[in-house]
Amino acid sequence: MEPKKISQSRTVKAMLVLPPDSNALGTMFGGKVMSYIDDIASISAFRHARLQVVTASTDSVDFLYPIIVGQMICLESFVTWTHKTSMEVYVSIVSEDLKTGERRVCASSFLTFVAIDENGRTLEVPPAIPETDFEKELHSSAPERFRQRMERKQHSRMLAEKFPLRRLQSL
Ligand SMILES: CC(C)(COP(=O)(O)OP(=O)(O)OC[C@H]1O[C@@H](n2cnc3c(N)ncnc32)[C@H](O)[C@@H]1OP(=O)(O)O)[C@@H](O)C(=O)NCCC(=O)NCCS
Repeated sequence: MEPKKISQSRTVKAMLVLPPDSNALGTMFGGKVMSYIDDIASISAFRHARLQVVTASTDSVDFLYPIIVGQMICLESFVTWTHKTSMEVYVSIVSEDLKTGERRVCASSFLTFVAIDENGRTLEVPPAIPETDFEKELHSSAPERFRQRMERKQHSRMLAEKFPLRRLQSL
């Protein structure tokens, strides 16, 4: 399968943070930020594979700084690495104070998407070629993150099997 440059999946979106996206403190809802992260990451994965994709998992999202109503945020995402049918996508969110121009990375995350056909069967995706130093760093460290995810999934499965579904009968 023809490899693709990481830059080909790069996706950028800027928006103004408005009151409907915020909590009582005037800062952005974490859930809203996560929804934007999933949204932009899925576009990068779709662009890389040119196939329908689904989110397989999201790694931790660290909210490093609050995002304040009236600020601008810029989300950027790209595919960093692929395995067989899965793609790792990196997303960063930069906030900008429009009055001062001060910018900072306020959150980032890695997500994994899997390409599927119309029957939900998984499909192979092209390898990703890193070019910049940052892309190379993310690309070379991806196999270790993949290994950790597989371990985490095993643990999630184990907990899911133990979860007492009977409890839900009382709802
Ligand atoms: C993601 C999904 C397609 C994987 O299907 P599966 O039958 O478990 O397939 P496999 O175990 O063969 O894994 C297929 C690929 O997904 C990857 N994968 C599966 N679960 C994963 C997870 N939790 N995190 C990261 N990658 C995962 C595997 O590593 C594999 O990648 P590879 O082919 O590159 O090695 C399937 O679990 C699914 O459809 N989940 C629901 C997705 C969804 O609805 N997302 C929206 C959120 S509600």
